[in-house]
Amino acid sequence: MPDPRLESLRQAVPGLSLKTDPADLEHYGRDWTRRWTPAPLAIALPGTVAEVQQIVRWANAHRVGLVPSGGRTGLSGGAVAANGELVVSLDRMNKVLGFDAIDRTLTVQAGIALQTVQDAARAQGLQYPVDFASRGSCSIGGNIATNAGGIRVLRYGNTREWIAGLKLVTGHGDVLDLNRGLVKNSSGYDLRHLAIASEGTLGIVVEATLRLTDPAPPSNVMLLALPSFEALMQVFDAFRLRLQLQAFEFFTDRALGHVLAHGAQPPFAETHPFYVVTEFASGEAEEGEALAAFEQCMERGLVSDGVISQSGAQAAQLWRLREDITESLARYTPYKNDVSVRISAMPAFLAETQALLADEYPDFQVVWFGHIGDGNLHINVLKPEGLEQDEFVARCGRVTELLAACLQAHGGSISAEHGIGLVKKPYLSSTRSEAEIAAMRGIKSVLDPNGVMNPGKLFDP
Ligand code: MLT
Ligand code: ZN
Repeated sequence: MPDPRLESLRQAVPGLSLKTDPADLEHYGRDWTRRWTPAPLAIALPGTVAEVQQIVRWANAHRVGLVPSGGRTGLSGGAVAANGELVVSLDRMNKVLGFDAIDRTLTVQAGIALQTVQDAARAQGLQYPVDFASRGSCSIGGNIATNAGGIRVLRYGNTREWIAGLKLVTGHGDVLDLNRGLVKNSSGYDLRHLAIASEGTLGIVVEATLRLTDPAPPSNVMLLALPSFEALMQVFDAFRLRLQLQAFEFFTDRALGHVLAHGAQPPFAETHPFYVVTEFASGEAEEGEALAAFEQCMERGLVSDGVISQSGAQAAQLWRLREDITESLARYTPYKNDVSVRISAMPAFLAETQALLADEYPDFQVVWFGHIGDGNLHINVLKPEGLEQDEFVARCGRVTELLAACLQAHGGSISAEHGIGLVKKPYLSSTRSEAEIAAMRGIKSVLDPNGVMNPGKLFDP
């Protein structure tokens, strides 16, 4: 028997594209976490802002939860629909709406893929510099919902820095046209920034005006082999004193092992405990500085080997060693931590966390990597074969409580760039004070009074 609510939705939004096939419910009801069983009511695919508004108004009238949905490459369960929610997929709202050469902005619908944005910017002789491995599948709306970071934050910052304006359909169904591309706008609360990283809990981002910048200069990529964890931040210091770094990413031998098993070529004849991929502008002066930093690190015993890209193809190959980690681990459905501390707190935090996880996970494979130049660590824990998924998640959850306490002591965050979603919700208070969470709840109650927007994500009512 068809759900009568769907008939009323069809009446409220005439011509709305709706999917209800079990395969679609499964596909659109989950993200890359794969932890929850998808169970959405249906999938709505609006084609216009007006249709999104009508859907939101209908959801308020019928008290149906809405889950905004982009590429669903998220790693915190923010786009999961496991409780009869209506998924609002922005798949059909994926166009470039305009380019302004004077403002250097690109206005897009929120369902557009990051890579399509990057290509459109390039076609105008400019760049949209936010970048990460899921560029082909993730959407700008999802990037905004989590303030996504990625591999060039060190040089260009997070998604937030590049949003000149956005249109938000609030949980009321109103359209807020926020900041309208202005560079300067000192006229009260900047609601644009409230929408960024709100994980779909305040409304649905339907359009964004993105700031573009000059294309990046041709670059060199260097892969460094390190003997110890302690050396990491010292190598970072040595390189950044001499060069403007565009990226400084690290991974362990264990992470590399998974990427090699996935088809990549080993970079060195021998293995090393830690690796760093760094990128900087090419040029004689820069290469000289990089060599000097490298030699200095070798002399101090901080680095044991290194290779510098000689071509674009080799640079891409070196980047693959870092970028393919997530995909090479996907078959294990890892338990993911995505934590950050101030860069100055990183050495002490690293030492403490390393000891903590060695004690707490004696029998699990722990894979470390991440955006160390931003103070952001990814710690992926792999489930041993034979252990029940629920038991595995419960054990990892207990360790995350200890990790959260350690983060709190170092003034860090339980989510650097993946968002809180469902996965990190129990640990939000390690990063945000009670007063802050109360303020966030208050803001939600104004923009989404009936709690229809992405219910259960970020915090409970
Ligand atoms: C990455 O930087 O590759 C992802 O954000 C990390 C992850 O998959 O845990
Ligand atoms: Zn990352």
